[in-house]
Amino acid sequence: MKTVSQISELRTQVKVWRQQGLTVAFVPTMGNLHAGHISLVDEAHKHADKVVASIFINPMQFGINEDIDNYPRTMVDDQQKLTAAGTDLLFTPTPDIIYPKGLAKQSFIEVPNISDGYCGESRPDHFRGVATVVCKLFNLVQPDIACFGLKDYQQVQVIQTMVEDLSMPITIIPVATTREESGLALSSRNGYLTAEEKAIAPVLQKNLQWLAEQISIGFSQSESIDFIGLSKQAAKVINDAGLHTDYLHVCHAHTLQPASEDDTQLVILAAAHCGKARLIDNLQLKLT
Ligand code: PAF
Repeated sequence: MKTVSQISELRTQVKVWRQQGLTVAFVPTMGNLHAGHISLVDEAHKHADKVVASIFINPMQFGINEDIDNYPRTMVDDQQKLTAAGTDLLFTPTPDIIYPKGLAKQSFIEVPNISDGYCGESRPDHFRGVATVVCKLFNLVQPDIACFGLKDYQQVQVIQTMVEDLSMPITIIPVATTREESGLALSSRNGYLTAEEKAIAPVLQKNLQWLAEQISIGFSQSESIDFIGLSKQAAKVINDAGLHTDYLHVCHAHTLQPASEDDTQLVILAAAHCGKARLIDNLQLKLT
């Protein structure tokens, strides 16, 4: 695997592939890679001839109280994992390559509505930073397809909306969340969990499953479903176990608006603090 940090080197390599008639898939990351990221690379290989990954810890998506300096940096380990997964090219730009004028003077992409609630409410401007860097990386790599993990469900919807709204010629491939046997979604943030916290963290996914079951039972019995009441019950069990729920809502799977009686494609979105880690997770549910 070749690693490049300059835009010109990236463009030269992609141009050569294009001249050979090859297709290109892209996997953007912030590094500190785990099996979930590698599943994105594996998926990318199914859709294109060449796979480009990037590692860029994007300052624009961190809030003022969020500690970007302590974000884990594991470049050598990441390169080994990407090489083993058959990645063709790794792009590792520095902030001054991506934002040469500095953040304050940088144009940005804002994806309204879908960015507003849930993580967008807890982390103001986060999705502006995500959409801007992903748009910029798309313009640099110019891939045919790009893979994103469904653990960050709202992020996938924001990027999909941006691609549709701005007519970007890129297919977004959402990839299922990779989990530990306990059900805990793999995340770079799990590194902040102590052994005791790691033992209780699976309560989050477990209660999303409980909530999905209650909704399915209600639907199959044609009962009116109290989405808010059931969500509160699930959040209480999670909080009683020692986590602190930031939000837990049942939503329409595409608009992310609060679920209503007529919706059959749902997603339960949740975030909860567990010690120093803010865990996010979700569960998609089709009612038939
Ligand atoms: O999901 C992530 O790791 C980041 O938000 C992304 C998509 C690489 C943009 O910085």
